[in-house]
Amino acid sequence: MSNIGRDQSLAADFFDTLYQADPDPWRFETSEYEAAKYAATIAALPKPRYRSAFEIGGSIGVLTEQLAQRCDALLSVDISALAQERAIQRCKHLPQVRFELMNVPHEYPKESFDLVLLSEVGYYWCQADLHSAQQRIYESLEPGGHLLLVHWLHDAPSYPLRGDDVHNAFQDFAAVSQLKSVSSQRTADYRLDLYERP
Ligand SMILES: C[S@@+](CC[C@H](N)C(=O)[O-])C[C@H]1O[C@@H](n2cnc3c(N)ncnc32)[C@H](O)[C@@H]1O
Repeated sequence: MSNIGRDQSLAADFFDTLYQADPDPWRFETSEYEAAKYAATIAALPKPRYRSAFEIGGSIGVLTEQLAQRCDALLSVDISALAQERAIQRCKHLPQVRFELMNVPHEYPKESFDLVLLSEVGYYWCQADLHSAQQRIYESLEPGGHLLLVHWLHDAPSYPLRGDDVHNAFQDFAAVSQLKSVSSQRTADYRLDLYERP
């Protein structure tokens, strides 16, 4: 594995190694905690449907499959081909879902979105990549578009940032941009923030 260090984002080989050892390293398919968090994530979406959504770090597609029910089109990207292969299989009955391998924010789609979902990904970025991602996400959001952030709050020493670092950075970004906080939830384990670009 490379790129372990707080000044660099975690690279594809970090995730590929995890997925090689275990196809579902975070128990997305079976954990009651994840199922409840996914339900809260979907319930936090203010609109019944989204025209064009962007999911960053879709992993093996468990949340992707649920999110797709609310989207006319959904682009799901991940840095790990191994993870994305399982997501493609899981979502093959959903023609509105498109997959691309992408290292965000170094790569980013050219299109615009009315929903961007960043669930359990931001703490893998270093500060510089987080700042760059904030700008790219903001620029890709249509007027009235939503940004949903969900992150685990506990310390993971191998991750460059913590969940609170990610959410606090977006709070700071909102103060100097047009992003408007719409709703916020905090449990003992995760934090969820919904923003709108007016
Ligand atoms: C913990 S999983 C989160 C999966 C899903 N979003 C969820 O909430 O269940 C994090 C995923 O983000 C991907 N990832 C990490 N850094 C990334 C980056 N820079 N660009 C795209 N995907 C990334 C990893 O490969 C991994 O599949």
